[in-house]
Amino acid sequence: MRIGIISDVHGNLEALNSTLLFLNSRIDFLAVLGDTVGYGPDPEECIGTVKIKANLILKGNHEEGIITGNYTAFKDIARVSLEWTAKVITSDSLKSIREFKETAEVEDILFVHAAISSPLFKYIISDKDAMNEFALLDKKICFIGHTHIPAAYRKEGEDRIDVIHPDFSGKMEIEIEQGYKYIINTGSTGQPRDGFPFACASIYDTEKHLFTLHRVEYPVEITRKKILEKGLPSVLARRVVQGI
Ligand SMILES: [Fe+2]
Repeated sequence: MRIGIISDVHGNLEALNSTLLFLNSRIDFLAVLGDTVGYGPDPEECIGTVKIKANLILKGNHEEGIITGNYTAFKDIARVSLEWTAKVITSDSLKSIREFKETAEVEDILFVHAAISSPLFKYIISDKDAMNEFALLDKKICFIGHTHIPAAYRKEGEDRIDVIHPDFSGKMEIEIEQGYKYIINTGSTGQPRDGFPFACASIYDTEKHLFTLHRVEYPVEITRKKILEKGLPSVLARRVVQGI
């Protein structure tokens, strides 16, 4: 099976559509790892699209914010865009968001938005963070998002972690080997923050044991304009263009 994995679409319909077009003929199953809304100008359309296209949709911290209406854990820009998102999404989409799960399993794979120890909120940014998560991982691979920065952690033995970073073009290819466990951050489709403004689109081929993170070019100028036209913070327009 070829599993497509995307995360952190963040209301960026242009990135989502281009990514789905890219993945379309290359995958048999699509997993969406949360934060489909927040920051971006098209939350309603993005929810509608992933509901049609995805086999599995997880909840992220931004969905949790919309559900609870409690934005105290968010920085100003996130809070402002979530307050706007809560106003523009339909009750039907809100109902769907409430039903998104926090974790899911397929074969020997665990999917979660942020971390096993804290599915919605904890940031895994170091090998030390990953070590604590591996202690909780009873599958071979865990796919995560949340930080918007692609990276992979490979656990060998009791106390050794290898960190794998993307190449010069922001892409990653990892052979999944026997005897190791992996935690793989698939980056962000709609708001990359690793300096590459191209949408992240991952594929894991369970038969070839090969994980590939691709970068997809999309019409970011349209997204940039929409962010400004809809009155969202202008820093968000700059972020999608610069990939930071
Ligand atoms: Fe996010």
